[in-house]
Amino acid sequence: MTPAMAEKKDAIYYHELHVHEDNMAGEVHDGLSRQQKTLSPKFFYDKRGSELFDEITRLPEYYPTRTEISLLRRHVQEMAELLGTHSFLLEMGSGSSIKIRLLLEAARPSIYVPMDISREHLIASSQRLANDYPWLTIHAACVDYSRTWDVPDFGPGRYNAFFPGSSIGNFDPVSALQLLKQIRRLVGKEGGLLIGVDLEKEPGILEAAYNDAQGITASFNLNMLRHINQRLQADFEPDNFAHKAVYNSTQGRIEMHLECMKDHCVCINDKLYDFESGETIHTENSYKYSVESFHDLAAKAGFSPVRVWTDEAGLFSIHYLTAI
Ligand code: AVJ
Repeated sequence: MTPAMAEKKDAIYYHELHVHEDNMAGEVHDGLSRQQKTLSPKFFYDKRGSELFDEITRLPEYYPTRTEISLLRRHVQEMAELLGTHSFLLEMGSGSSIKIRLLLEAARPSIYVPMDISREHLIASSQRLANDYPWLTIHAACVDYSRTWDVPDFGPGRYNAFFPGSSIGNFDPVSALQLLKQIRRLVGKEGGLLIGVDLEKEPGILEAAYNDAQGITASFNLNMLRHINQRLQADFEPDNFAHKAVYNSTQGRIEMHLECMKDHCVCINDKLYDFESGETIHTENSYKYSVESFHDLAAKAGFSPVRVWTDEAGLFSIHYLTAI
């Protein structure tokens, strides 16, 4: 789609880059029909879920957000030099946070393209950025990361992608590779990628980060059931489930589950699902990488490492990679 074909919404351009079919009912049915019941982490994020995630990022045990922000603050000048000025900056995510502001102010791209699945959040945060940075052209694009899409051709210039938050960790190795290949396609042969990746560490630190003392992560996990109740005609009783977060050392990932506390049935859209005490619904994976294991994955997607920044405690990494 060319910029001229985009819909102009106040100060920003808005693009729908593929047809979105909302198939929540089908996906929930498929996930609950498996041997290991599964619900996608994308169902965490209704309004309440996004608020709870914001609270998680401020928890003492949840180190990723504050560690990534401090790495950005400390090294943003160097990052900006690597990105180059006047580049076209694509962001995986919706740009409402302090992170993109630090990068925009230091790198001064000419065009900024936030890409996110949550349309309202995407438009609202893009409009706030447009208001604060009148020098910046913004093309907001509503996309689903599990699909493929193209970005507008903005003419000659260098494309960089920014993918903060270690959200790549939510994807299993096959899907993560697919998504990195998609990003590689978007940035093209001169392009770059600045990506935040959570590091492997002692399981105790990881389990505390996903099972905080205040129970915010538990509320976040259980909120998925309320969200599904509200969107589909479902009658989940959240009190029948308990939050569980465990480190799976074979797979190198934190797993979040909702553990069923008593035998019961749940009715969704006139279909019944049996739950047995002790069984779980698997709601999220959060893969952890070493610097080397992430480099291996990135290389398979066509990216070669340029620079990696980590904190003293080795908790979190930010990589800058360029197209091979
Ligand atoms: C948004 C995927 C980066 O995996 O750490 C936080 C989501 N889940 N606490 C993560 C999350 C539970 C988070 N990401």
